[in-house]
Amino acid sequence: MPPEPATNLTRTHYLIATSEREILTGHHGVVVWMTGLSGAGKSSIAVGLDQHLNQQRQHSFILDGDNLRSGLCADLSFSDQDRTENIRRAGEVAKLMAEAGLIVICALISPFEADRLKVRQSCEKSSVPFMEVFINAPLEVCEKRDPKHLYQRARAGGITGFTGIDSPYEAPVNPEVELRTDLNTLEECIRQLAGRILEKTAIVT
Ligand code: ADX
Repeated sequence: MPPEPATNLTRTHYLIATSEREILTGHHGVVVWMTGLSGAGKSSIAVGLDQHLNQQRQHSFILDGDNLRSGLCADLSFSDQDRTENIRRAGEVAKLMAEAGLIVICALISPFEADRLKVRQSCEKSSVPFMEVFINAPLEVCEKRDPKHLYQRARAGGITGFTGIDSPYEAPVNPEVELRTDLNTLEECIRQLAGRILEKTAIVT
């Protein structure tokens, strides 16, 4: 039997409201949740977007699936259950960072609609703006790009449970933004997404 979750907890209420923190950053916080197949372009867009926002003096930070999996999520596999836990952890951290006033750029495959919905609901419950961004490129294109040679290995049977090959990817039904990375350049995608983010994070007085 696994141990019971903790009980007898009392919430500490902080003295600084999110709105007061946002006076320091100069903009609202937001969780920008990028989902898509491996090789669709999530990390490339995240890195470029982060730089673009930084150059405009916007406070952003990236939570990237590959990177989180070497620290916060180092104990997790790619089983369905562990992917769900991976998304839950990343979502909770993202929400906290957005409450601190940051533009949090999340780049995780997050293949399951139900897991992404839970992150959205958790953010909404805490009044944290959430944007789902579908980084969309057909599987054939991602497989052709294969920047990490993982599709090649998965096809050869060297990796099991690889998203798009023998593990499912549930595309978003109604994302706030969809970027077709096979039809647009990286720069176009970054510019378009940055525009949508800045509309959402601007403090209107
Ligand atoms: S998620 O499904 O739990 O959201 P996450 O975004 O953290 O995945 O990690 C995906 C990255 O792990 C991929 O970019 C790829 O580099 C690597 N990876 C290794 N094994 C797998 C696998 N079986 N399925 C998908 N990605 C994998």
